[in-house]
Amino acid sequence: MSTERILIIGSGGQLGTELCESLRGIYGNDRVIATDVKTLSGSIAESGPCEVMDILDKVRFIEILDKYKPTQIYLLAALLSATAEKNPKFAWTLNMDGLFHVLDAAIERGIAKIYWPSSIAVFGPNTPRVHTPQHCIMDPNTIYGITKLAGERYCEYYFEKHGVDVRSIRYPGLIGYKSAPGGGTTDYAVDIYHQALTQGTYSCFLSEETELPMLYMPDALRATLQLMEAPAEQIKIRSSYNVAGMSFTPDEIAASIRKEIPGFTISYAPDYRQKIADSWPKSIDDGIARAHWGWKPEYDLQGMTGDMLANLREMKSIKS
Ligand code: SER
Repeated sequence: MSTERILIIGSGGQLGTELCESLRGIYGNDRVIATDVKTLSGSIAESGPCEVMDILDKVRFIEILDKYKPTQIYLLAALLSATAEKNPKFAWTLNMDGLFHVLDAAIERGIAKIYWPSSIAVFGPNTPRVHTPQHCIMDPNTIYGITKLAGERYCEYYFEKHGVDVRSIRYPGLIGYKSAPGGGTTDYAVDIYHQALTQGTYSCFLSEETELPMLYMPDALRATLQLMEAPAEQIKIRSSYNVAGMSFTPDEIAASIRKEIPGFTISYAPDYRQKIADSWPKSIDDGIARAHWGWKPEYDLQGMTGDMLANLREMKSIKS
């Protein structure tokens, strides 16, 4: 029997929904406490403990810590790139103060392990854009990227100064069928599958040649759990690890969908998110994650497209 008690902050989001399900599968439903600023519903609410909590409300956070005494915390509450540009001051407050509250709690309460996601948004216009290395120039020009880079420095600092066992991955765009993305620049790569099945056509907010790194959700979950379960001495990077899955353009994902839905069409109407995408890498070098804790992706673009469409068809009860 596991003695872990895991607190997830931001369980209602794209990653939180799926991580909660995976963690409950591994550790037991009662050992994983799902929290979100909004009331949780559906299978998360039915399968285990849930609480409404705003991570900016320290009194409430302490109340939850006293009640559940977690041994691990996953901090997933944040504004993503596109939403953050619309409300930069709040993005800074939520993304940074939320992290401070969790890192400080880790010291004060001796919480054994913290997970905090970073992003490819930590890179910027002067970063090498192809096979972006783990260590290179990082000059993010989005508020989201600035919070993630500052957060990475804080994580490493808390590890070095206070011994907090904090672990992190720089996620590329995450693509899954179980939950909706929440305000990112890479969200098109999820929406496109839904629209392909229901409308047969999609209007993309990025231009056809915009190449970005992406990761299919089953790979993202595996990477996260593998990192969290690795022995502490294998985790030699305490800022955040580059992790790659695949890279593609809107034109290429459309072509992969056309192999399954021949009549599918795509049009392009780039908006403010184009500028954000243009400042990010096209592909990521994840050699260090592979060497340190054995990371290896399983899905390529066509494998993901087949799996996404099959699962969405089933969920939407659409015949192929
Ligand atoms: N998927 C995220 C975003 O687009 C990147 O971390 O904001």
